[in-house]
Amino acid sequence: MNKPIRKNAALIASAQAGLSQPQKTLDPKWFYDDVGSALFEQITALPEYYPTRTEVQILTDGVAGLARAVPEGAVLVELGSGASTKTRILLDHLPTLSGYMPLDISAAFLADIAAGLAAEYPTLDITPMAADFMAPLVFPETIAKMPKLAFFPGSTLGNLEAEAAIDLMARVRDWPQVAGFVIGVDLVKTPDRLIAAYDDAQGVTAAFNMNILHRLNREAAATFDPAQFRHVARWDADAERVEMHLMAREDIAFAVDGTVFHMTQGQSIHTENSHKYTRAKLDAMAAMSGWSVAQWFTDPNADFAVTLLVPNA
Ligand code: AVJ
Repeated sequence: MNKPIRKNAALIASAQAGLSQPQKTLDPKWFYDDVGSALFEQITALPEYYPTRTEVQILTDGVAGLARAVPEGAVLVELGSGASTKTRILLDHLPTLSGYMPLDISAAFLADIAAGLAAEYPTLDITPMAADFMAPLVFPETIAKMPKLAFFPGSTLGNLEAEAAIDLMARVRDWPQVAGFVIGVDLVKTPDRLIAAYDDAQGVTAAFNMNILHRLNREAAATFDPAQFRHVARWDADAERVEMHLMAREDIAFAVDGTVFHMTQGQSIHTENSHKYTRAKLDAMAAMSGWSVAQWFTDPNADFAVTLLVPNA
């Protein structure tokens, strides 16, 4: 197997910076190459990983309650367009929507999504935009004038520290003609269920976490031996988040594009935070970013919530 080396300069820079910190880190956005995206799809079907199926159920049961908040001719703007199961629930049940704008950093992925949906929804205006939703956005003029419903499912908000999450919410609040913001958030619950969701019996989440090292080897001229690492998921009760780490099984050294790093046994690379929420936390974050919680839908078990935020006057 002689794969040509295509070095990813942004990945190298980001990894070298994170691995130089006292607590080594890698940004979770790098999980999602083709292999990682396929592993994430597998995670969403695991018995332990309740968030995806629970959110789909909440959206299916609650979508009628969102309809009143969607103005005639509104554009659904999705932050990071994943597999579009959740999008379809909104498109199928919110008849006042006139358009759909998926935002994603991967232009190739966007083209696929847009082509697939265009055939199924011939009357919908689909305008994919290759953009990092963490950076300021400039809408095309026609879309800028239209009312917008922002959509951020999957508890992806939970990857962000509170400050960055509030920043993002405030930026969406500043979009021209924004009428509402639908966000999916995973809720605080007993640690055993949370940890099981991030450390499943089949080891799919471990493989997903480990793939970031394989990716660095493939794209960042790195020399990781993944067998020297152990997947760890832990609950931080104070920060109310699940953390994923890759822990060194022994004293090791590795390089990323020529820069050498050392780790001692038991030291870890922190790869992801998944913050968990309560209604009170969401209320406070909304208030700090110019929104109010207008609707709060949960499953009977209160495992997950989908909230509709509306702009404060
Ligand atoms: C896609 C970020 C919401 O945090 O639950 C799943 C990613 N990580 N298992 C999450 C993930 C480990 C997922 N998000």
